[in-house]
Amino acid sequence: MPVTKSSRIYVAGHRGLVGSAITRALESRGYQDLVLRTHAELDLTEQRDVRRFFEDVRPEAVILAAARVGGIHANNSRPAQFIRDNLLIQDNVIDSAYRAGVGKFVFLGSSCIYPKLAPQPIKEDYLLTGPLEPTNEWYAIAKIAGVKMCQAYRREFGFNAISLMPTNLYGPGDNFDALDSHVLPGLIRRIHAAKLEGDGNVTVWGTGTPRREFLHVDDLADAILHLLHRYDAEPIVNIGWGEDVTIRELAELIVSVIGYRGELIFDTAKPDGTPRKLLDVGRLNELGWRPRIPLKRGIEQTYAWFTEHFHDARL
Ligand SMILES: NC(=O)c1ccc[n+]([C@@H]2O[C@H](COP(=O)([O-])OP(=O)(O)OC[C@H]3O[C@@H](n4cnc5c(N)ncnc54)[C@H](OP(=O)(O)O)[C@@H]3O)[C@@H](O)[C@H]2O)c1
Repeated sequence: MPVTKSSRIYVAGHRGLVGSAITRALESRGYQDLVLRTHAELDLTEQRDVRRFFEDVRPEAVILAAARVGGIHANNSRPAQFIRDNLLIQDNVIDSAYRAGVGKFVFLGSSCIYPKLAPQPIKEDYLLTGPLEPTNEWYAIAKIAGVKMCQAYRREFGFNAISLMPTNLYGPGDNFDALDSHVLPGLIRRIHAAKLEGDGNVTVWGTGTPRREFLHVDDLADAILHLLHRYDAEPIVNIGWGEDVTIRELAELIVSVIGYRGELIFDTAKPDGTPRKLLDVGRLNELGWRPRIPLKRGIEQTYAWFTEHFHDARL
């Protein structure tokens, strides 16, 4: 059964960066039967609760945007939580969805689960062709297991699950925590604080030379809805902007958007992570989708959201 505007769609993790963007997109386009549960209402690591939920609610489509997610520090310092929670969430949700007869399932991998030294831009075929970035291998191995579980359920049981591989994301609802955040929201928070406090400089981790690609989360949500309707096959699909910037260029862009007059200092004693991470988006383009929100406009909009939500943002 194709997904329609009256299909019952469960968005798992609807309060997160990705889940909230997907929910906004579905609501604004007139989807009428969304099923949403907070972490407190349904802990997806609890198999019995997840099974019961799917038996009771019987969604027709599922978008799995619930996961334990974080930056280098969080991954490095809590490896057990990253591998355990992600394996449990995926295993419970994918298996329960299959058992409950879900007709379309969207799983989200990530660009950071490709090999650390994958040739650039990264094609989908490079998954599992080399060693992972050691700082996030716990998360990556769990996510790779999720991709493989979707492919195995499609092959053996005919379960209509697809796996999408988003690049680095940013936007309203991001995690701006000082230690646990990704690079873009982390820089927004620290450069904003330095401006308010009149600090003369802001320290950026690493050399500033690694290259990264960033996609606004509303663009990702648009791509997910596009593929929810138009893609039903085993191969994974990258979702990215298609161009990258250095961390220095990113930091300078954020400095200009915030209007900070101090100096950026690059702490070369701190790890750089993967040298470059740019997705090849040829497959996505062939499926008829392209992004719309350029980085500067996206950062302006995210900074406006951050200052408006300073008291309820994740800090
Ligand atoms: N952010 C990125 O740059 C990025 C890039 C590529 C791929 N992705 C993928 O996108 C997906 C969503 O990421 P995100 O950035 O939106 O993360 P996020 O903002 O941290 O959101 C994750 C959501 O999952 C919920 N959650 C976590 N553990 C749960 C549990 N045991 N039971 C129920 N809910 C639980 C969280 O609720 P609580 O906060 O209440 O725990 C939160 O609402 C992930 O699969 C991630 O791999 C993200």
